[in-house]
Amino acid sequence: MARFDVTELARRYEESCSELEEVHLDWTLDISMDDETADSEKPSVLSPFLPSQSSTLSTMINMLPELGPEDCLIDVGCGDGRVLVAATRLTGCRGVGVDVSPDCIKAAKEMMVAEDSSHAAMAGERAYLKERLSWLCADCTLDKELLGRLVAANRGEGKVYLYLYIYPTLLDKLRPEIEALSYASSSATHGTESEAAVAGVVTARYHFEGWKSGFVSSKAPPDLSAGPNEKFVEVRRLNPLRRLEAASPGLQEND
Ligand SMILES: C[S@@+](CC[C@H](N)C(=O)[O-])C[C@H]1O[C@@H](n2cnc3c(N)ncnc32)[C@H](O)[C@@H]1O
Repeated sequence: MARFDVTELARRYEESCSELEEVHLDWTLDISMDDETADSEKPSVLSPFLPSQSSTLSTMINMLPELGPEDCLIDVGCGDGRVLVAATRLTGCRGVGVDVSPDCIKAAKEMMVAEDSSHAAMAGERAYLKERLSWLCADCTLDKELLGRLVAANRGEGKVYLYLYIYPTLLDKLRPEIEALSYASSSATHGTESEAAVAGVVTARYHFEGWKSGFVSSKAPPDLSAGPNEKFVEVRRLNPLRRLEAASPGLQEND
């Protein structure tokens, strides 16, 4: 079977993606100008919808060489779903996409169904993506335990990884939650080690300040096959942090 082509995927959804960018922007403006709803009741749309470029997607997948059918990738702010569609088709992993925008979730489900149909024509598997992907429309900033619950529900036999291509406004809000999920603790007293709930976090373009030394960091190679608008985006993989029970509090990064 032909290898799944991420650049082709982006091409197939170029038009619907531009439409979604506009719809998302209008929706965000409508929310901010809505004087009738209390601010506390409005969703916090802290990042616009912009799709990951195909070179970014390829780099992310290359950075997670261990990602396989037992594992789950959670795309926080999943947009039109392309990240999970590509990751699942390339690695067989499961995926959960969360986004505050109902239009994004609708687009993600449509992409999943359309890609399943074209895959079925080639490989006879009718619901390859549908059996592996799920989508949730939710404001990640509202429920501080949402990500923790999603991670716990998807750990199963495999590991859970997070993908974040979101603006710093949202990244900073989610940071405490993500750091808590990324701590592996080792007890000097008991000589025990407990694994972090999240086995790795990949960030694109915007990154966690201070999560630098000791983590794998890589630059996306220029994707020559991509269109002229593809710009260079830095992608980083951050491995779980290690916290020693007996040591002084604060972050201790991996060697
Ligand atoms: C830059 S896009 C990334 C889309 C997709 N992950 C990708 O890489 O192609 C960021 C997404 O974050 C979503 N977002 C913004 N605020 C959010 C919030 N409070 N909770 C969940 N998602 C949010 C937006 O709707 C948007 O789709």
